[in-house]
Amino acid sequence: MNAPTPTAQIETQKTDGSSLPPVPMTGNLPPRVPEVFDHEYRAAMRSLLEAREPMDWIGVHQFLGFPEDRAAGAQFVTRRLSAAPDPERVVLSHSTQAILTVLCGSLVGANGVLAVEELTYPTMAKFAKQMGFNLVGVKLDDQGIIPDAFEKVCKEHKPRALYTLPTLQNPTTAMMGLERRKEIVEIARKHGVAIFEDDIYSLLPEGVPSPLADLAPDITYYMLGTAKSIGAGLKAAYLVTPTTTEPARLFWPGSGMTYWMIAPANAGVATELVHNGGADRIIAAVREETRARQNMVAETLKATSYRTAPECLHVWMEAPSNRDLQGFGEDCKRRGADVGPASSFLLAGGSAPHRIRFGTGKARERSDLQRGLDAIAAAYFS
Ligand SMILES: Cc1ncc(COP(=O)(O)O)c(C=O)c1O
Repeated sequence: MNAPTPTAQIETQKTDGSSLPPVPMTGNLPPRVPEVFDHEYRAAMRSLLEAREPMDWIGVHQFLGFPEDRAAGAQFVTRRLSAAPDPERVVLSHSTQAILTVLCGSLVGANGVLAVEELTYPTMAKFAKQMGFNLVGVKLDDQGIIPDAFEKVCKEHKPRALYTLPTLQNPTTAMMGLERRKEIVEIARKHGVAIFEDDIYSLLPEGVPSPLADLAPDITYYMLGTAKSIGAGLKAAYLVTPTTTEPARLFWPGSGMTYWMIAPANAGVATELVHNGGADRIIAAVREETRARQNMVAETLKATSYRTAPECLHVWMEAPSNRDLQGFGEDCKRRGADVGPASSFLLAGGSAPHRIRFGTGKARERSDLQRGLDAIAAAYFS
C-alpha cells in the first residue's frame, strides 16, 4: 500500500482551542446548493400563495394528491420513465419511507417474505421488525442483484416482493445494466414477485438504464423521492403503481390511514418546481456540486481502493486489510470523519465486506468535506 503525500494538515481544533466535532459522513444527503435552491424555493412558494386559495388548498384532505399535483408527479417521473403514466396511477406521499410502509404492510404483510439486496438501506430492517415480515438477502455483484441468486431465493423462500435499488445501489454503488434489469424482471414475473423499485439516486447521474418499471410496469411499484436530488426537507415522494385502481386499494380509502399523506403545501411547491423548471435547475446544481466533491474524493483517496461514481452521493471504500473494521471506523472518527461500517447495511445474515460507506453531501462546506477526507486518508495510512 503506497502512502500518499499528505494533502494538508488536518484541522482538529477551532481557533478558540476547542476541538472540532467529526465531519458527519454517515448519511448520504445531497450537498447544499443555496445559491440556486433558496431562490427557486422562495419563488415557488410565492407564486403558489398567489395561485391557490388557501382554504380550499389547506383546509381539506387531498388523499392521493390533488389532480394537478398527481399530474405534475406523472410529469416528474418522465425524468426516468419513457412515458408519463396516467396520473391516476400516481400517489403523492411525504416520503419514500412512508410509501414503503404502506407497500410492505399490504403486499408483504406479517410473516411474509421480502427479498432485499444482501446489503441495503438499513431502515428496511426496522420496518421488518415493526411489521413482522421477514427479509431474505440476495447476493450482489458489480451490477447489483445476481440473477441466479434471485431465482434461488424465489424458489426457496417464495418472497411476495423484492425491494431493490438498481441505480447507484445503497451502499455498494452498483449500477444494474439494462440486460441485468431485463433478467431480474423476468425472474420476478416468472415467480409472481412484485417489485418495489426505489430509484431515489437516479436523478443525478446521466445515461442511466431504464427503470425496471419501464420494463415491467405491470408488476413494479416505482418510487421516485426527491430527498436525494432536491432536498431532504421538501418531503415529497412519488409512487407509480401498476394500475389506476391500486392507489385507492392500497392507500386511500383502502388503508384507512392517512399518516403517509403529503402535506398540501409541500405537494404544491413540488408541483410548482416541476412546472417552472426549478426542479431541474436545483438537480443540475446538486449534480455539479456532487461531481466537484467526488473530484475531492478522487484526489485525496487516490491511493486507496473504493467504488463510487461521479454523481453518487456515497463512497464504498475498502478498509485496510490489516485493520479490524470497527477499529478503523473508530480511528476515522477520532481523526475527524464519522463514517459507517459495512455491517450496518447487512440486514439478513451473511458476512459484511471489509468496507466502510461515507457520504460526501452532509459536510456543510467543501472545506469540511476535505477535513473529513483527510481524516479518512490519515486513518487509512496510519
Ligand atoms: C435508499 C433510500 N431510500 C429512501 C430514503 C429516504 O427517502 P425519504 O426521505 O423519501 O423517505 C433513503 C435515505 O437515506 C435511502 O437511502
